[in-house]
Formats: sequence, C-alpha cells, structure tokens
Amino acid sequence: MLLELRDVSVHYGKIRALHGISIEVNEGEIVTLIGANGAGKSTTLKTISGLRPLSSGSVWFEGADISTMAGHKRVVAGISQSPEGRGIFPGMSVHENLLMGAYARKDDFSAELEEAYELFPRLKERQHQAAGTMSGGEQQMVAIGRALMAKPKVLLLDEPSMGLAPKLVQQIFSIIEEINRRGTTVLLVEQNAQQALKLAHRAYVLETGEVVKSAPAAELLDDPQVRAAYLGGDLGVAGGASAPPVPLEKGTAVDGEETQP
Ligand SMILES: Nc1ncnc2c1ncn2[C@@H]1O[C@H](COP(=O)(O)OP(=O)(O)OP(=O)(O)O)[C@@H](O)[C@H]1O
Ligand SMILES: [Mg+2]
Repeated sequence: MLLELRDVSVHYGKIRALHGISIEVNEGEIVTLIGANGAGKSTTLKTISGLRPLSSGSVWFEGADISTMAGHKRVVAGISQSPEGRGIFPGMSVHENLLMGAYARKDDFSAELEEAYELFPRLKERQHQAAGTMSGGEQQMVAIGRALMAKPKVLLLDEPSMGLAPKLVQQIFSIIEEINRRGTTVLLVEQNAQQALKLAHRAYVLETGEVVKSAPAAELLDDPQVRAAYLGGDLGVAGGASAPPVPLEKGTAVDGEETQP
C-alpha cells in the first residue's frame, strides 16, 4: 500500500473535523473522496500533506509512519497537493509558478516541465503571462501542473473541477486520467461526485468527519443512498431508477449536460 490513514482524528481548536477516519490508497489507483461541504475532505488532504497536525491516529506512506514528518519533507518523499482554491502565485508568471513546484528537488526536472506543458498546451502558450491574470480554468491547470513538478508518487487534488465550465471540467478529468495512466497515483477530492466516481477505481464517502462508505467507485455510482445524496437522484446515471432529483450541496449540476434540479 502506498498511503494509509489509520484512525485519524484532526481538530481545529475545539472543532473536531475528522473523527477516526481510515483510508487506504494503493499504488496506481485513483481514489476519490466525496462528501458534502464541511465533511472534512480538504482537512484530510491537508493532513496527508502535513499542513494539519493529528490529534490521534497515524499516516503511513510507503510503509513508514510519517505522522510527524514536516510538510516539505513529505513533498520530497513523494506527496504533492494541488490545493483547494488553487493557491497559485498571482504575480509570478505561469512558468515561474511551475518552477516553484520543483523547489524541493535537487535533480533535473526538465522532463516534468516538458510533461506539464504537454498535458496543458495552454500553459505553454501563456508561459510568460502573470498567473493571476489567467482564467479560472487556466489557473487550475497551473496548480495541477505545479503539483506535478514535484514528480509525486501520489498527487492530491482538492476539487480540481470547482468553478469550471462543463467543457473544461471534462478536460480536467481526462487530464487526471492521463496523469494516472502515466503512473501517478491520485487521491481526488470532488464535489462533482458523478464524474469523480466514473473516473476513480475506489471511493470513500465522508460525512461530518467520518467515513460512512468505502467501495469500488462503480458500486457507489449504483448505490441508492449515494445517488440520492450526491448524484442528484436519478440524474445522469445510466439505467437510472426512479428516485426524485435531490439538490446537490453546492447547487451545481453534476454534469455539464444536466439541468439543475
Ligand atoms: N481553519 C479552520 N478553522 C476552524 N475550522 C475549520 C477550519 N478549516 C476547516 N474547518 C472546519 O472543519 C470541518 C471540515 O472542513 P473541510 O474544509 O475539511 O471540509 P470539506 O469537506 O473540504 O468542505 P468543502 O466541500 O466545503 O470544501 C468544517 O466543519 C469546517 O468548518
Ligand atoms: Mg474542501
């Protein structure tokens, strides 16, 4: 197993954001974490990245307990995150942003730079543009490209499709698939549960800081409870049953082609 959270609890002051969650990510997988607003998805990724301390439990990477390892060392070890809200450096060029992703590396990163530009030709075209003036979707590409520059073994993605037009959502999801096909393990947090479950091998459902379901992603696509809560009832699922559409948490359509409930 590549990455494992064992019985992890995390607090913000007195607020308990994670309550004893256990998650496993195997090498080569795309694992997705779905759940409503405030369920603890971002907290889970931040905890894996070393940005939040554990209250209890442990985090394991390649068989070693990394629970107290500093964040920058985790990047070197092979854990790289593209944060929620993108977190790019707006005043720096696209190119400089990508280079920042390789800051911890001492080896040659020209292959990853080339790969980032190959995955995102738009970034190559705009490499000298200030990242802060790129469109929302383009900034998302910068954030993912930057995370890839660390040559991660596991790439943590926090809502990469957030705020993107349907066409771009599709594009980002195919790029994630391609990144995985090229050998990078992916842990994907998404509000866009439909797309995430179609893409992922396995999935965990988080509710108020607890894992309430874990299964092969395809199984969850057919799970009545998951469909009612996260997939807008019978919307968009092949062979969809008769459950009435339920509004999604963020009021977004599950898929660009769907209409709002
Ligand atoms: N910096 C913080 N200080 C205090 N509480 C926080 C902080 N960050 C998150 N929380 C709380 O922790 C819980 C989990 O938040 P988290 O950001 O992990 O949720 P999420 O699943 O990523 O939600 P969303 O889908 O809205 O991004 C929430 O109740 C949230 O209010
Ligand atoms: Mg979040």
